Amino acid sequence: MLNQVVVDAINAQINAELSASYSYLAMSAYCERINFTGCARWFRIQSDEEHVHAMKLFDFLLARGAAVQLTAIGGPRNDFGSVLEVFETAYAQEQRVTAQINQLYEVAFGAKAFDTVVQMQWFVNEQVEEEKTMREVVARMAMIKDDPASMLDMDRELGARTPEAGGAEEGA
Ligand code: FEO
Repeated sequence: MLNQVVVDAINAQINAELSASYSYLAMSAYCERINFTGCARWFRIQSDEEHVHAMKLFDFLLARGAAVQLTAIGGPRNDFGSVLEVFETAYAQEQRVTAQINQLYEVAFGAKAFDTVVQMQWFVNEQVEEEKTMREVVARMAMIKDDPASMLDMDRELGARTPEAGGAEEGA
């Protein structure tokens, strides 16, 4: 049986991942509205990946016979000043998620919930990748933000993103 403190922390993380998914969906809509269709596609895929993250935790709780407790998701920010601001906001969001994941890892470790610790290792690694990706996009976009041709090239590059193979089915 999972310790209730661990179950509560995992349920809170399910909410955080779904909130991230909702927030990226709003970012996708904004990008599409200002005609950055590549960025819009990139954020839509990012939104889907956050949903996959939530479902990994959702399935883990069910596999351990624990109760999933879904709670309300706050309204996301829908308006931004530029596509660069969207990515800056996304990067800040990922940094917050990393802090939440680290906290969850600590709770699981403290409770000797080693099954959860193993699950959280996947998330710790994922956050390293997510932060790296966001940081690089923000840095490159900040360099070219006043050059429309370069921005459109970058939009095209980001639009080439493809969904991760089998993300939703991975049990890890
Ligand atoms: Fe699921 Fe982007 O953290």
